[in-house]
Amino acid sequence: MDPQEARRILEEERERGLSMIARADSSEALEAAKVGVLGRKSPFSQVQRSLGSFGPEDRKRLGMAANELRDALQAALDERRRLLAGAEEARLLEGDRIDVTLPGRRLRTGSLHPLTIVEDEMVGIFTRMGYRVEEGPEIEDDWHNFEALNIPRDHPARTMKDSLYVEIPGLLLRTETSAVQIRTMESQDPPVYIVAPGRTYRREAVDATHLSVFHQVEGLAVDEGISFADLKGTLETFARALFGPDRKVRMNPDYFPFVEPGCQVAVSCFKCDGTGCAVCGNGWIELLGAGMVHPKVLENCGIDAERYTGFAFGIGVERVAMVRHGVSDMRMFVEGDVRFLQQFQGAGV
Ligand code: PHE
Repeated sequence: MDPQEARRILEEERERGLSMIARADSSEALEAAKVGVLGRKSPFSQVQRSLGSFGPEDRKRLGMAANELRDALQAALDERRRLLAGAEEARLLEGDRIDVTLPGRRLRTGSLHPLTIVEDEMVGIFTRMGYRVEEGPEIEDDWHNFEALNIPRDHPARTMKDSLYVEIPGLLLRTETSAVQIRTMESQDPPVYIVAPGRTYRREAVDATHLSVFHQVEGLAVDEGISFADLKGTLETFARALFGPDRKVRMNPDYFPFVEPGCQVAVSCFKCDGTGCAVCGNGWIELLGAGMVHPKVLENCGIDAERYTGFAFGIGVERVAMVRHGVSDMRMFVEGDVRFLQQFQGAGV
C-alpha cells in the first residue's frame, strides 16, 4: 500500500474502531472488538507493517498518526472494559438481592410422638423421686421373661397364644417389661430403685384398646424394710403428679405370679372427680398392675429374701396417653396420621 492509502485506512479505522468498541455489550464482545481493531490481521496492523516501505518523511508522519490512533483505541477499550465490568457486577448484585423486610419462612419442625411425650413425663416423675432408668432387650429368653418371674411352665402366658416367638429356640419378644426386674437384680445388689420404659409384644387381636406392640414403664424398688405402704405412697405420688393433687388411689387385689400380694391400681377420674363420666365410666381409671416382689423372685436373682423386700409395678403407656389426652382409639397412636400427631406439637419438650 502507498502512504495515501495508509492515511485513509488510519482515518477509517478510528471511526470503525470506536464504534465497534462502543457497541460491545459484554466482556466477550469487547475482546472480539479488540481483535478486530488492533489484532494482527486488522487493517491497522497492515498499515503498521507497511510503514517500513515508506520514505522517511511519510514513515515518521504516519508512524506518529498510527501511534496516536493505537493509544486512542486502547484508551477507548480500557474505558469500555471498566464500564462493562461495573454493569456486570451490578447485574450480579441485582440477581442476589434479598428483601430483608420480607417475613421469614417458617421452618416446619417435627415434634415428639405422643407416646414418647407421655413416657418421658412418667419416667420424669420417678427420676425426680430418685429412681434410675434401666433398659433391657426386646428379644428375651425364657428365664428372664418367665422362669425367674415365677411364671410356671403351664402358665397361659407361656403358650403360643399370648407370646410372639422368634425363630431361634428359647427366645421370644418380651411380653412385659418385668423381665428388666430380673436383669437388674441379677446385676446389682440392693438397694435398687429403677424404672424401665420400653416396648412389649403380645399376640393380641388389635382393637380400640389393644395393640400387639405396646409400651410399659416398669418400676422396681428393693431395699431393707420396704412395705406395701411404700408402694401405695409411691403410686399416689405418681398419680397426683400426672393427674393432679386431689387424685385418690384405689388398690384391688389381683394376681401376678411375680408379686405377692398383687393388685390392680386405679386413680380417681380427673374429669369427674370420681362420680362417673365418659372418660372413666365408673369414676375410676385403671392404670397399672403392682405388688410386693415375690420372695421366690428375689431368691431367683440371688437376693436374700429374709433381709430384703421390694415392690414392683408396670404401667401401660398407651393407656395413660389415652386418658390423659382424650384419645378414644389406641390404634391412632400407630397409624401415622399426621393430622392426629400434629395436635401434640409442643405438648412435651
Ligand atoms: N407385668 C404386668 C403386666 O404386664 C404388670 C405388673 C408389673 C404387675 C409389676 C405387677 C408388678 O400386666
